[in-house]
Amino acid sequence: MTSRATVGVLVPAAGLGVRLGPGAPKALRELAGEPLLVHAVRGLRAAPSVGPVVVAATDVALVEELLAPYDVVVVAGGAERQESVRLALAALDPAADLVLVHDAARCLTPVSVVEAVVACLRAGAESVVPVLPVADTVKQVDGDRVVATVDRAALRAVQTPQGFQRSVLERAHASGLPTLTDDAGLVEALGGTVTTVPGSEEAFKVTRPLDLLLAEAVLAARA
Ligand code: CTP
Ligand code: MG
Repeated sequence: MTSRATVGVLVPAAGLGVRLGPGAPKALRELAGEPLLVHAVRGLRAAPSVGPVVVAATDVALVEELLAPYDVVVVAGGAERQESVRLALAALDPAADLVLVHDAARCLTPVSVVEAVVACLRAGAESVVPVLPVADTVKQVDGDRVVATVDRAALRAVQTPQGFQRSVLERAHASGLPTLTDDAGLVEALGGTVTTVPGSEEAFKVTRPLDLLLAEAVLAARA
């Protein structure tokens, strides 16, 4: 793939945010007075490599209005994240040869992570994931009984944006594999190679109420 390849971004934002508790869908919950999704898309637009962006949302008309200043295409999402990504991919400008998939919920991801993923794709990787070392000791369990302690040194926590040569992501989503929590998992299941680059603590996923407090603190520290 040439270094001039256009980079498209798919933003799954159609989740309900059940773990965040009652309220609006997660992408529309506010952080410093603006929806998470607006923070996420603004961050993507600040990345020099990013071209066309497609957002998969629950309320298309509302999100189109919210994101009017950012030049994005908005489509209706699906019942599962994987379905939302598939629907967004189908609406992506055919000129995009490289595709990033970025969770709206990772709304404070630094531009440097986006650019690191793109650079790795441009250097020839077929699939790329940003990762961090795992801080906790991780145990495998069977019910409430511990079965094994996994070697933490060999584990990585995976973030987004995950990057793909477009043909690789299209093949993965056309494969009919069962639902997974990330896109690189589909590529792995098909025997593809996934390369890691360093992620960032600031690319954490807003998942539970405490994460909203952390996100507010990160924004305050940046201001
Ligand atoms: N997502 C999506 N479509 C779905 C489910 C999830 O586009 N049917 C998106 C979410 O909006 C989020 C990203 O996928 O940006 C990661 O999902 P997650 O953090 O699990 O968000 P939710 O599914 O909204 O949260 P929860 O699982 O707590 O309900
Ligand atoms: Mg979810």
